[in-house]
Amino acid sequence: MVLLFIVVLHFVTCSCKSDAKILLKLKESIRDSGALSSWKDSKPPCNGDIENWVGILCANGTVCGVKLENMGLGGVIDVDVLKELTNLRTLSLMNNKFDGSLPNITQLFALKSIYFSGNQFSGVIPIYIFDGMLSLKKIHLARNKFSGEIPQSLITLPRLSELMLQDNEFDGEIPQFQNGMLKLFNVSENEMTGEIPRSLGHMNVSSFSGNKDLCGAPLESCAPAKLSIGTIIIVVILVALAVAALIAVVIILSRRKQMPEQERATVSPPGRRKAFSTDLDKMEQGTASTEKSQNGKKGVNNIKLTFLQDGREKFNMGDLLKASAQILGSGIFGSTYKAALNAGQAMVVKRFRHMNNVENEEFYEHMRRLGRVNHQNVLPIVAFYYRKEEKLLVYDFMENISLAVHLHGNTTRGRPCPDWPTRLNIIKGVSKGLSYLYNELPSLMAPHGHLKSSNILLDRSYNPMLADYGLIPVVNQDRAQEHMIAYKSPEYKNNGRITKKTDVWSLGMLILETMTGRFPSSFFQQGSKGNETDLVSWVEFMVKEGNADVDQVFDKNMGRKDKSKGEMTKLLQIGLNCCEEEVDKRWDLKEAVERIEQVKEKDNDQEYNSRGLSK
Ligand SMILES: *[C@@H]1O[C@H](CO)[C@@H](O)[C@H](O)[C@H]1NC(C)=O
Ligand SMILES: *[C@@H]1O[C@H](CO)[C@@H](O)[C@H](O)[C@H]1NC(C)=O
Ligand SMILES: *[C@@H]1O[C@H](CO)[C@@H](O)[C@H](O)[C@H]1NC(C)=O
Ligand SMILES: *[C@@H]1O[C@H](CO)[C@@H](O)[C@H](O)[C@H]1NC(C)=O
Repeated sequence: MVLLFIVVLHFVTCSCKSDAKILLKLKESIRDSGALSSWKDSKPPCNGDIENWVGILCANGTVCGVKLENMGLGGVIDVDVLKELTNLRTLSLMNNKFDGSLPNITQLFALKSIYFSGNQFSGVIPIYIFDGMLSLKKIHLARNKFSGEIPQSLITLPRLSELMLQDNEFDGEIPQFQNGMLKLFNVSENEMTGEIPRSLGHMNVSSFSGNKDLCGAPLESCAPAKLSIGTIIIVVILVALAVAALIAVVIILSRRKQMPEQERATVSPPGRRKAFSTDLDKMEQGTASTEKSQNGKKGVNNIKLTFLQDGREKFNMGDLLKASAQILGSGIFGSTYKAALNAGQAMVVKRFRHMNNVENEEFYEHMRRLGRVNHQNVLPIVAFYYRKEEKLLVYDFMENISLAVHLHGNTTRGRPCPDWPTRLNIIKGVSKGLSYLYNELPSLMAPHGHLKSSNILLDRSYNPMLADYGLIPVVNQDRAQEHMIAYKSPEYKNNGRITKKTDVWSLGMLILETMTGRFPSSFFQQGSKGNETDLVSWVEFMVKEGNADVDQVFDKNMGRKDKSKGEMTKLLQIGLNCCEEEVDKRWDLKEAVERIEQVKEKDNDQEYNSRGLSK
């Protein structure tokens, strides 16, 4: 009987005891822990919601917060120990003497707030440290000695509302936080440079003061303002010198073998002007050596395009280059330019490097195959140019550029954000185009293979056109595996293979991106690390039944929620189903397309239609 009592007693006190053990272990790693004298095994740290130990927050008898403020503590915070406190939501170390790099909080998944301001922490914050910290709301790191860039991964935290980084040594540019995401933000007294993101334009000036070179609202605008004539003359002279130097460099480089150029995977907004004839002159050197002897002519006009569409007016590179070209974006495979023909018709030229997976003959054959596509949601390749080092693909220009530009681009350029009916129409068009590609290119495992918002082009009326499809067979394998969307899929990560359902996964990611306005974080990171389930698990969490925050999941710029919320949520669910990690459980394309077709613009459309039908 007594034995049983002891056993029961042991179990009753067990969970408190383990909290006590954990905290005492933590205390061992802390220097100058005099202030923690009440941390003793004699009493449990928590008694219901009341704390027996100093600096502890309790709820239901367990530790939910560790709040060690102004205690003169130092040393290292042992995160491996802390992670055993499974209910830990708040961690505050404000105003102590902790030093070294930021504690590796990655493992403390449930944390909502970290207050580390006023310590001696230093060094660069690793980008992965906020991976999967989906609950994190408040990050206070002010008055430390952190340096390097503010981690980009912060913009993927769905609930972040306070970010205090003032009085550190951060440099680089401020990450592009989403509109309305942050309530409190401070980067003053750092070494930040560049333009302040538009989404932070409404913040208090004092949040940005004391930096190296920040501009844009709420500070002064970045455009050079109020220059005196003297300054202008000096600037003009400097620019002229720079241009002369640049031309010299281009000439020198073009005499040498063509240098590999560093490439970036960005969605850069259009608008920057750049004459790409210099680029093409450069590349033309390669052909010149072989072709010059035959026809004696020199210049980009020599570049022969192979046309894939019958009945199209033929033109050559020279025709495209008469007007200056505009750079639309640069990606991992090369840049994209807009160029105008004589008649004023605009064309898009995409440069591709790393496309030598197949021999010349086979490449031509594959291009002819792609050239045969004919569907209202698939953008045909008009012509192409082949050279060993680099290929050019020529498309018709689409008035509204790409979906990516509208979802993530800079809204200053007056581009309206597509509303819900437009987004639904885009997703429906994309799924139809994809379905067509599956029928047309049945031999390809992933008939699209690189489905992402920057490859969804939008025409004048926002109808979507798929681009960059069917390229996996011709792109160099290592490049493809490193950068193409199909290779970011869970099946490739887990089993090293892509399947017939891989494009369905990409479609799912695209749906989530379109509905939430959030860029899947993994696409930022080069290479195959990263965790693309971030967006998926966040959406899953948000649409879970009973989550009062469900409205937060939708992109604020989409507008109009009340009458359409049901259908909008339905589309999100479809997106989630397409993102199902287990390929066997994931829908095939046919099923996905059918489900998407059933989504209506308004919640009561369905009812209305069925009434209409039954009449
Ligand atoms: C404490 O327990 C009660 C009852 O089990 C529960 O309703 C409440 O949410 C818990 N509070 C916390 C902070 O876990
Ligand atoms: C930080 O924690 C994560 C998750 O446990 C782990 O993967 C990573 O290696 C840790 N990093 C360091 C520098 O200890
Ligand atoms: C900006 O912040 C400072 C100090 O935090 C405050 O005194 C000032 O009133 C704020 N200004 C505005 C426009 O909110
Ligand atoms: C930002 O931090 C600076 C420096 O600590 C402070 O003076 C300013 O009032 C802060 N502004 C806001 C809005 O928090």
